[in-house]
Amino acid sequence: MKGVIFTEFLGLVEEKWDADMVDDIIDACDLPSGGAYTAVGTYDHQEIVALVVELSKRSGVEVPDLLRVYGQHLFSKLATTYPQFVGKTDSVLDFLEGVENYIHVEVRKLYPDAELPSFETRRLEPQVLEMIYRSSRHLDDVCHGLIEGCISHFNKQGTVEREPIEDGTRFIIRCE
Ligand code: HEM
Repeated sequence: MKGVIFTEFLGLVEEKWDADMVDDIIDACDLPSGGAYTAVGTYDHQEIVALVVELSKRSGVEVPDLLRVYGQHLFSKLATTYPQFVGKTDSVLDFLEGVENYIHVEVRKLYPDAELPSFETRRLEPQVLEMIYRSSRHLDDVCHGLIEGCISHFNKQGTVEREPIEDGTRFIIRCE
């Protein structure tokens, strides 16, 4: 998993708690990387799981809630870091339809070793998008937060529902 995922997570922990919390969770996890992440490095995705579990223990916030808030935060950071990907449309659903065949394709050109999920999309109605998420990393909650972060980024009103399916998660996004 790319270092940007970790640096943004630790940035969020510092913003919502403080720098001591960042140090404490890193120390408690005994991570192979030692917790020193660079944006372009690649790290075991289990490290983010360990950090989130530790933060949950210390903060009392449930792991799925932490992952979802993290996804919301991550979207706004990705949108700032990669403005070229978000400026092309102001429709949330058009944007989300482009994640699989455009954005993540461009991400892979930048980082050939990126571990990206797969998305299958279907427009059920003009304002309703079905998005099926599949990933061996099972970051459904992060994905949910990223979709919500996207809706807020575009300043729109919308709802996100989800249900597990056999080999992934089916999101239904309704957005104006
Ligand atoms: C500006 C837009 C976006 C950019 C630049 C971007 C870029 C990235 C990058 C760099 C990673 C890390 C890959 C790795 O760790 O090796 C990633 C992972 C991921 N992205 Fe995106 N992304 C964007 C939008 C989205 C959106 C809108 C969604 C959800 C619909 C999404 C879903 C995910 C998920 C769930 C992962 C975690 C890996 C996994 O689940 O297997 N991304 N993305």
